[in-house]
Amino acid sequence: MRIEIDGTRLWNELGTLAGFSDTPRPSVTRIVFSDQDARARAYVKGLFTDAGLAVREDAVGNTFARWEGREPALAAIGTGSHIDAIPHAGAFDGTVGVLGGLEAIRALQRAGVRPRRSLEVLLFTSEEPTRFGIGCLGSRLLAGSLDAGAGETLRDKDGRTLNEVRTAAGFDGDLAGVRLGPGYYAGFVELHIEQGPLLERDGVPLGVVTAIAAPASLRLFFEGEGGHAGAVLMPARRDAFLAAAEVALAVEAAAKESGAVDTVGTAGVCEVFPGAINSIPSRVKLELDIRDIDGDRRDAVLRKVDEAIAEICGRRKVEARKEVINADSPAVCDASIVSALSTACERHGLAHRKMVSRAYHDSLFMARLAPAAMLFIPCRGGFSHRPEEYASPEAIAQGALVLAEAMATLAL
Ligand code: GLV
Ligand code: MN
Ligand code: MN
Repeated sequence: MRIEIDGTRLWNELGTLAGFSDTPRPSVTRIVFSDQDARARAYVKGLFTDAGLAVREDAVGNTFARWEGREPALAAIGTGSHIDAIPHAGAFDGTVGVLGGLEAIRALQRAGVRPRRSLEVLLFTSEEPTRFGIGCLGSRLLAGSLDAGAGETLRDKDGRTLNEVRTAAGFDGDLAGVRLGPGYYAGFVELHIEQGPLLERDGVPLGVVTAIAAPASLRLFFEGEGGHAGAVLMPARRDAFLAAAEVALAVEAAAKESGAVDTVGTAGVCEVFPGAINSIPSRVKLELDIRDIDGDRRDAVLRKVDEAIAEICGRRKVEARKEVINADSPAVCDASIVSALSTACERHGLAHRKMVSRAYHDSLFMARLAPAAMLFIPCRGGFSHRPEEYASPEAIAQGALVLAEAMATLAL
């Protein structure tokens, strides 16, 4: 069996997909269930169909493209990732895993492989939290890690429910039906850009992921008292933004003081009401993202943040309310999938390193459903979630090659 990746075709397809964006190249903005998302989905589904794959979509828009194996009743081997992109992102986050997964399957078809197990490439809905506030929406529902009832009540910024928005995008049916049984996949492998600098810095072409860090996100609402920016004197103020600002700094301090460089904390959303230069902020929404490869250490940071909120808001006489959006456990990748990936790298003479993923991925939830692992390729400067995100055509083709090799082994 000689597997050959059509790197030029894959590169061109990634370029076409990047054009479905609400912001001009090189930036990509593709919010789930937007018009551009619909156009991108139609493009990718067309590619799936052209490859002879049977396409199925579930009620939340997760899309499965299946190449039937010799024994279709057996649990399948899955691959895939997402095509939604946060505002002003790049062209490679997620997309490499979807189109690279497709090219891996096409390469196996061209090589004359007839796998025993079916192979499936997935396009997961809304890995990014941009629209509904929670990341990995599609894979959470697949794994049963988000209750369908809780899913129904999610709303976007405009107050539209997930149900309204998905129905308008052509996906209806019961969200509870999205959940997959534990025997559906015999293995899952996600190809992704590293989103960090290590592989490029050390000249290592591939990373085999052994664990995925535990993400948590919180939504905080602060309520103080508004008023005239000239007339209300400083001792009388209950400024909601200043309380939020102190909490953001407390998150930074708690992450830095955790004792490990693996702890990270970010305050990426801050909405100030009424948002006028000459008005004291009366209400603020602050969203926090706190992660660690060690779930207990991450939870200790969450507790410190709670203490900081109580102290800061007590002192400033500002009310605070907290919603936990998610506080997920880390995922440990499966030893047999890690080993299939390592062996596939070796078979093609490609060096690899074992590493952890600090970003989260749909594999965090697929690992709850099936033995799972991930394959990373280098990206320039480690840039991601910004327009400068770039992975070379060679790196992408090498990733697809090793993915194809590993899937062929797992599907035997
Ligand atoms: C995924 O996009 C993440 O934020 O890790
Ligand atoms: Mn991302
Ligand atoms: Mn991603």
